[in-house]
Amino acid sequence: MDIRVIGMNGAAVKLPISHLEGEMGGSPEGGAARDVSKGAPPSALPGISPSRGEIGSSCAYAIAAEATADIPAREALLDRAMGQGRRRKSSEKLRRGRRPSEGLAFVARDETGAVVGTVRLWDVALGEDGAPALLLGPLAVEPALKGAGIGTALMAKAVEEAHRLGHAAILLVGDAPYYARFGFSAEKTAHLAMPGPYERHRFLALELRPGALDGAHGTLRATGRKLAGPQPRAAAGSLRSA
Ligand SMILES: CC(C)(COP(=O)(O)OP(=O)(O)OC[C@H]1O[C@@H](n2cnc3c(N)ncnc32)[C@H](O)[C@@H]1OP(=O)(O)O)[C@@H](O)C(=O)NCCC(=O)NCCS
Repeated sequence: MDIRVIGMNGAAVKLPISHLEGEMGGSPEGGAARDVSKGAPPSALPGISPSRGEIGSSCAYAIAAEATADIPAREALLDRAMGQGRRRKSSEKLRRGRRPSEGLAFVARDETGAVVGTVRLWDVALGEDGAPALLLGPLAVEPALKGAGIGTALMAKAVEEAHRLGHAAILLVGDAPYYARFGFSAEKTAHLAMPGPYERHRFLALELRPGALDGAHGTLRATGRKLAGPQPRAAAGSLRSA
């Protein structure tokens, strides 16, 4: 699929999805406003970088840092894209009551400013005394806009920013055929575990620093900054496979 990318100079160029270039800005959840576009190093994903794009001539979107005001729209989008069961996933155990890793919560907005995509990364430790890493998720795109490159643009920005901020590795539970295109595989997660039910072949990782997951073992543990105030409890029922 080709996407018309609006460059920093406003010129529109039609490029394959693997060659997107763009810009960022905004205010991450619970944090101060910050322009995350400045000083970005070469992409951690060769050939895929974050975008501000236009699909066909009808749907333009931009990737931005999530703002506090985006939270209700993000939650509604997640319900539409993933259903209520999303709150019972094992990954949720590592996210509940925590804030996303600093500077690593992103949304896609359409031309009206509406939230049409979301991705966040979370601070975890690899085992009891293990090294720090990130857990990615949930990633979701407005159902009516699937297949337009928004998920790819969100992933590219998430990986690039995580790399720029010095993180060593990203883990997630998801569909390997989708995440393989960003370099994720189950190769380095064999001795790691999620804190709840999950399907091992869906437990994937990407090293941002080569060798970062060598010898990693144990169950992932949440280490992120805690949210202030009482937190909503998980929906009734046992945890589901993430
Ligand atoms: C998965 C999701 C985020 C992808 O976002 P998107 O904007 O539709 O994806 P993109 O347009 O960037 O990429 C589309 C490509 O990914 C492929 N793809 C999408 N979902 C896939 C999946 N679950 N498994 C394998 N490939 C998938 C499409 O077939 C398409 O392939 P192509 O490039 O060869 O045509 C989106 O479909 C979504 O929100 N799904 C529901 C929420 C969800 O399941 N999230 C977790 C994913 S494990």
